[in-house]
Amino acid sequence: MNLLTYNLLGLKPKAFGLEIENCSVKAVYLEKKRNKFRLVSCGKKMMPRGIVQSEQIIDPKKLAEEIRILLGSAQPKPIKTKNVIFSIPETKAFIRTIEIPKMTVQEAREAVKWETEANIPISVDKVYLDWQVIGSKGEKEEILVVAVPKNIVDAYYETAVLAGLVPLAVEVDVMATIRSLTGQAENIQPVLIADIGADNTSLAICQNQIPYFTSSIPLSGNTFTEAIQKELGVSWEKAEETKFKFGLGEMANEDVLYRIFNPLIENLASEIEKSINFFAESINSSDKVEKVILSGGGAMLHEFSSCLGSRLKMEIAIGDPLSQIDIRSFPYKISSRDLLSYSTATGLALRGADYEN
Ligand SMILES: Nc1ncnc2c1ncn2[C@@H]1O[C@H](COP(=O)(O)OP(=O)(O)O)[C@@H](O)[C@H]1O
Ligand SMILES: [Mg+2]
Repeated sequence: MNLLTYNLLGLKPKAFGLEIENCSVKAVYLEKKRNKFRLVSCGKKMMPRGIVQSEQIIDPKKLAEEIRILLGSAQPKPIKTKNVIFSIPETKAFIRTIEIPKMTVQEAREAVKWETEANIPISVDKVYLDWQVIGSKGEKEEILVVAVPKNIVDAYYETAVLAGLVPLAVEVDVMATIRSLTGQAENIQPVLIADIGADNTSLAICQNQIPYFTSSIPLSGNTFTEAIQKELGVSWEKAEETKFKFGLGEMANEDVLYRIFNPLIENLASEIEKSINFFAESINSSDKVEKVILSGGGAMLHEFSSCLGSRLKMEIAIGDPLSQIDIRSFPYKISSRDLLSYSTATGLALRGADYEN
């Protein structure tokens, strides 16, 4: 999937992955050697509020500066490569699967445009559009379409350039997360990925690395912190500390944290159920979603998977962004859990290390 491609004279430049969020920027740089990906460097920089707000870049200059600091402070060594693949938040994108009659590529290009126009709430002239044939159904071809408003992509692009970078491609964040967290097993059985970020959670049901359903909900990692802050009347910092320390572990029903967290878990569980039901009723009634993969920093909450699992009565796995990556030569001890909030940046880096077009 290629939203914006820059033909660099047939060269195969290597790029790092950059995820830009409301509260943080994250970078991952991988190298591919003999068909193996090796972790070279990674880093995360928290950002003050107001630089990126509701996934819109408010202050490009400050954001470019934050990106420069991030790259300089990446561990174990600064990321010097200028080539970047960056992500655009799913909340700003339109991901659709459509069907068109079988036809030539030239004709299909027009047909996809018109079919997309009918399926998104803004004019097709105002979006960058990319598409890919993903299968066929009788006389028709099934197409995955990704469209992102031009003004959004341009703003992210210009900021990357302002930070001294050379963007090779742009990708909607869930596409990258799917690449990083799913493998062979999920090619057969669809899976729901819940990426629990700071400001929102994105839900994606995918099969064979294709997102058939995506949505974003405002319930996020910070919702848990806000709830503690409000209920216990403590500072944000204290609330975060409490959340990190206790999580959902060993909660008795009368426990104060249980009372605070339970409605949030309930809310998330019901959103997941709604998505799975929608998938079963409107998208694919034969392959059932029987597994949820948790991703994002919010998924680091202690006992999150067991708590959600007993509510949903299904398998809840914690995503493993390291499944395709060799870390033996990485100088620090690092676990899949440590990298949970880097799932998206890792997915971008996987593409960057293997860049074809
Ligand atoms: N150890 C932890 N336990 C619980 N929550 C955590 C932990 N570490 C990070 N988080 C939460 O994860 C969220 C950030 O997740 P992340 O995926 O990095 O977000 P984003 O991609 O939106 O920047 C924050 O709400 C933060 O409080
Ligand atoms: Mg994220």
